[in-house]
Amino acid sequence: MTDRRPFVGGNWKMNTDRAGAEALARGVAEIARDASAEVAVFPPFPYLLPVGEALAGAGVILGAQDVYHQPDGAFTGEVSVAMLGDCGVRAVLAGHSERRHVIGEDDRTINKKVLATLAGGLISVLCVGETLEQREAGRTDEVNDRQTRLGLAGVSELDLARVVIAYEPVWAIGTGRTATPEDAQDAHVKIRGVISQLYGDRAAGSVRIIYGGSMKPDNAEALMAQPDIDGGLIGGASLKAADFGAIVRAGASAARA
Ligand code: 13P
Repeated sequence: MTDRRPFVGGNWKMNTDRAGAEALARGVAEIARDASAEVAVFPPFPYLLPVGEALAGAGVILGAQDVYHQPDGAFTGEVSVAMLGDCGVRAVLAGHSERRHVIGEDDRTINKKVLATLAGGLISVLCVGETLEQREAGRTDEVNDRQTRLGLAGVSELDLARVVIAYEPVWAIGTGRTATPEDAQDAHVKIRGVISQLYGDRAAGSVRIIYGGSMKPDNAEALMAQPDIDGGLIGGASLKAADFGAIVRAGASAARA
């Protein structure tokens, strides 16, 4: 890790209930109070407001798991960037593997979400990553290259400062199979290379590229100690404040090392 400030996000996915989300948020607020890493949580939509209240003053970024690119209008079931901002949201995920592969979002849709999020002044966390089939076919770099380029299409260098890239190999998500620190580092270097081609070395050196996929307290430090792994996006382990706290601390200590 370099002088890039670590970013550690908890993606709660479709988990928790209202009371559980509030309790978890209070736990995260405690963790974040003395954390040198930037800490974010991405609760389900209905709990954004109570979670935001539970996090008040703790310096934790309130994040949303999804957004619709249009500003308003007849889009039943969708939520705009402005609505999220109104609820205190400062970061939005785009391109998460579950939205790509379960819900069926394509790169064009994902790019619209990235652009809308940035235009609304929020942080966009763009997720990329290969499936097991793609990895076994030797297509990891090609997939990450394409998803990064298409996801960032039309993003200015100025707005890139509000982009975090999350490398999340699909085969490692929720499976207990983590990429080795070396494999993850390799993917991160390649993704940074794509950013460098698009925006130059200086911008590429500043953008945070975080790892997601079965990151846990016992593997977090080794992953985040890699020079190009600038934090983590945590699913399962973010649902327990103690585990999430251990990962946040691992990110901070990897940054100091
Ligand atoms: P797990 O940590 O549960 O593998 O999920 C990772 C993830 O998808 C974070 O967005």
